[in-house]
Amino acid sequence: MAAMTTTLAIANQKGGVAKTTTVASLGAALAEAGHKVLLVDLDPQACLTFSLGIDPEDLDASVHHVLTKGLDAREVIIATDDGVDLLPATIELARAEADLLTRTGREQVLKGVLEDLKEAGVDYDWVLLDCPPSLGVLTVAALTAARGVLVPLQCETLSHRGVGQLLDTVHDVRRFTNRRLEVWGVLPTLYDGRTNHARKVLDTISEVYELDVFEPPIPKTIKFAEAPAAGRSILATSKTSKGAAAYREVAKALVARAAR
Ligand SMILES: Nc1ncnc2c1ncn2[C@@H]1O[C@H](COP(=O)(O)OP(=O)(O)OP(=O)(O)O)[C@@H](O)[C@H]1O
Ligand SMILES: [Mg+2]
Repeated sequence: MAAMTTTLAIANQKGGVAKTTTVASLGAALAEAGHKVLLVDLDPQACLTFSLGIDPEDLDASVHHVLTKGLDAREVIIATDDGVDLLPATIELARAEADLLTRTGREQVLKGVLEDLKEAGVDYDWVLLDCPPSLGVLTVAALTAARGVLVPLQCETLSHRGVGQLLDTVHDVRRFTNRRLEVWGVLPTLYDGRTNHARKVLDTISEVYELDVFEPPIPKTIKFAEAPAAGRSILATSKTSKGAAAYREVAKALVARAAR
């Protein structure tokens, strides 16, 4: 029997809240724990691809060709040093938004790609989708393909407004393209535990929007800035750091959530 795959979109239209770092780190943590993991880079900036040690300039084909030209994902997926597989992006993905806009079924395009993989016998325990910082076609396609959405959130004032917009989009996706989509919760990132402020913002957001909060918060540490340059996640570059430990804990919580 084919394994159960859990597809999780990591989304927040706000830029720089650690979506990509979270995808790379949770992916590595899940792989460490013995899970088979696919990461999908859905951002034309290709930061996830870069951070896993792959130069998009060296790629002949990428997720763009899979989504818009029907190329088999198996021809594009790369095994990385972090023990996860990657469906990489290049700047060409910037055109996908426009290319897909006029297409029937564009919301379903990523879901179809993942189903094709499964039918071809390529099975993953986890598929993590790194969304771009917008609520455009690519994010909607990710939410349509996903079972859950995890929202990285930097706990600062005004984080609220963005969450409301994201939840509106989730609501639409649930109505029109993916009834089973669930908001798994918020992951506090870039967390500075020395301030009461961060804790307050977090409490407010979880109350106002009735969202679960994953623990522990991911601490703000310089180690994260160094990892992408090494082409590895913080779990490899800084194995015993607090940040790596936090992501391992959150990965455990996700595994428990998936079994629910
Ligand atoms: N816990 C952390 N501590 C310190 N720096 C961090 C932490 N997490 C992420 N960063 C840094 O913050 C910056 C933004 O992170 P990242 O690229 O993961 O965010 P993002 O939400 O994917 O951004 P974008 O919206 O542009 O895609 C990066 O320079 C990253 O190295
Ligand atoms: Mg990113």
